[in-house]
Amino acid sequence: MASALEAGGHDVVRVGRSSGAHTVDLADKAAIEALYDAVGDVGAVVCTAGVAVFGSVEDLDDEAYATSIGNKLMGQVNLVRLGLGRVSEGGSFTLTTGTLTTAPGPGTAAVAMVGGGVEAFVRAAAIDLDGKYRLNAVSPGWVAESRQAAGLPPEPGIWAADLAEYYVGFVEGNETGTVAEAESALTDR
Ligand SMILES: NC(=O)c1ccc[n+]([C@@H]2O[C@H](COP(=O)([O-])OP(=O)(O)OC[C@H]3O[C@@H](n4cnc5c(N)ncnc54)[C@H](OP(=O)(O)O)[C@@H]3O)[C@@H](O)[C@H]2O)c1
Repeated sequence: MASALEAGGHDVVRVGRSSGAHTVDLADKAAIEALYDAVGDVGAVVCTAGVAVFGSVEDLDDEAYATSIGNKLMGQVNLVRLGLGRVSEGGSFTLTTGTLTTAPGPGTAAVAMVGGGVEAFVRAAAIDLDGKYRLNAVSPGWVAESRQAAGLPPEPGIWAADLAEYYVGFVEGNETGTVAEAESALTDR
């Protein structure tokens, strides 16, 4: 995704939990604040991180819910909250949910729950931020490379390069309050 933005001429500051030009734990609000201080002015924030815990609702414990809420949900919400006034006005935030939110399977209760929270936040908060910031989310289907890593055939996954186009579209476009379901390539190559 970062490479796709760079190919479009954007200067990208890569941030990971343990890799990148800067590191941050999305679950740590103070660390997000420190990250914004360290990076300085940016025109857009794109988040493709967020931990949520898989498991049957019969097995998920307090820690599994706390991790999922603190990381994938509140981590991304805090990225927006703390970015207000730090990201240039007119800029954008693009978050990540997942199609399990709307098409769940076994063992996805916590994952779907926090994804739904992110999507509801995006749609509602975009109303408050209208005219100042754009706020959108990409909801990926199973990524082809992740399927391969799990020992499955890549199809019917979406390749990371095709998924990246959805994020680039939100950074460069005019949309706000939108959740894009990304299960297949945006355009034919
Ligand atoms: N993969 C899929 O098929 C798929 C499908 C639908 C939705 N999603 C969603 O997409 C997001 C990313 O999934 P992924 O499979 O790409 O995950 P991943 O490979 O584990 O991590 C992606 C990136 O996020 C960073 N990261 C992970 N946890 C972080 C944290 N707590 N704080 C800051 N950065 C963190 C990682 O940094 P480091 O490399 O430095 O650890 C890495 O750069 C998740 O929210 C997932 O639910 C994924």
